[in-house]
Amino acid sequence: MTHARYPEALTAPVFQQIGQIADRKGVQAYVIGGYVRDYFLHRPVTDIDVVVVGSGIDIAKTLGRELKTHVAVFKNFGTAMLHCGEWEVEFVGARKESYRADSRKPIVEDGTLEDDQLRRDFTINAMAFSLNEKTFGELLDPFNGQEDLERCIIRTPCDGDTTFSDDPLRMIRAIRFAAQLGFDIEDETFEAIRRNAARIEIVSMERIMIELNKIMLSPAPSLGFYLLENSGLLPLFFPELSALKGVEKIGNRAHKDNFDHTLKVLDNVARKSDNLWLRWAALLHDIGKPRTKAYDPRIGWTFHGHEVVGSKMIPALFRRLKLPMNEHMKYVQKLVFLHLRPIVLSEDEVTDSAVRRLLFEAGDDIDDLMSLCEADITSANDAKVKRFLANFELVRRKLREIEEKDRIRNFQPPIGGELIMQTYGLKPCREVGLIKDAIKEAILEGEISNDFEQAYALMEKLAAGYGLTKITS
Ligand code: CTP
Repeated sequence: MTHARYPEALTAPVFQQIGQIADRKGVQAYVIGGYVRDYFLHRPVTDIDVVVVGSGIDIAKTLGRELKTHVAVFKNFGTAMLHCGEWEVEFVGARKESYRADSRKPIVEDGTLEDDQLRRDFTINAMAFSLNEKTFGELLDPFNGQEDLERCIIRTPCDGDTTFSDDPLRMIRAIRFAAQLGFDIEDETFEAIRRNAARIEIVSMERIMIELNKIMLSPAPSLGFYLLENSGLLPLFFPELSALKGVEKIGNRAHKDNFDHTLKVLDNVARKSDNLWLRWAALLHDIGKPRTKAYDPRIGWTFHGHEVVGSKMIPALFRRLKLPMNEHMKYVQKLVFLHLRPIVLSEDEVTDSAVRRLLFEAGDDIDDLMSLCEADITSANDAKVKRFLANFELVRRKLREIEEKDRIRNFQPPIGGELIMQTYGLKPCREVGLIKDAIKEAILEGEISNDFEQAYALMEKLAAGYGLTKITS
């Protein structure tokens, strides 16, 4: 059988070097997986996975000596890794059994290349280029990965049940690749995901989140979330999101499907920004709706306070999903909490003080909040959308004006507790708090401007009212 050759895919000198070492040792070496796939897709790559029919660790150690670079050896997994310029190169021996280093099954080495390819996740990830001199650049593609790439299809090389029980995370990886590349999952493979969905429970949340975040960062994340829902995976690890699904009707009054709406908002945000956490805020902005849903015969379905309930759910949700409990969590929480404010503001009269308050609460995240709010307008009623967007423009203009005038965005009141205590010889007490708050309120209400002199004068007036006297003249 003759194989097509792609030496032009292997111009980095490290490939020839690996091939030469393999030749000297009398073993075969191949670059496999993501590198080959991404070469054909013209996607940038920085990782090289090398599979050796023999010992991967041995070849890695020799290459490490030649390059005078450190080799990290993971003996238990039979793998080794080194850095070569911009490349991260990982070596593994060809295996007959499951590929996964962290699967519970024993690692059985001494497989042929094809054994190894059969136990990889998808046909598009099972293609290999030969590195040995005589066959340099030959494409070994026994499961027609190249054809699947052309047809835009995700398919397992083996029967799906075997592939997914080897590593159930691959079910989410299938969906991740579908979302990232805009591919379809072949029917049998998708059925196998459905059949095996419950096995996801043995996978750690950290690994799931690595894939989920890649879905979040894909061009239209809704694709991935619909696949997760339709396969039955989503309710198993993210029931709060699945709970948004469904429409209830009383008489002829129905509310919108909040799952569909959420995914529209997420895609809207994704079109404008690749900020992962803004996308998370979009995904979670209505997460409090199922818990606040009520029916009022006079006005229909309501979700009063869902932004408050939703924002309170964020820390526990992040903890369970093993997302970072740091400023990213706080940012998402803040955006969920504030997500109705610009809309409410644009519906009422847009007063300076309301704009100032919003700026104060949102701080530097005001632009992201406005993007989220705009994305939240998914009504099918054109006139309504037009009106919202026009009002929004007004809010944005006011925000700019007030920010220019009052610099509220990162506003720290010009007079703090420290100065009040010093001036009146006080220890921390109720009056200090009251004066401080009153100054902040007066600035936000526009009664005084955001400057020291005016704030100082107000402090003096308030202090006099409390019967306080200065200790310094
Ligand atoms: N692989 C697998 N099963 C897994 C994970 C990985 O069979 N659960 C195999 C695939 O052949 C894959 C290769 O290992 O191509 C490398 O895996 P990884 O680096 O996780 O993914 P890439 O395919 O390189 O894709 P990406 O860089 O987008 O994560």
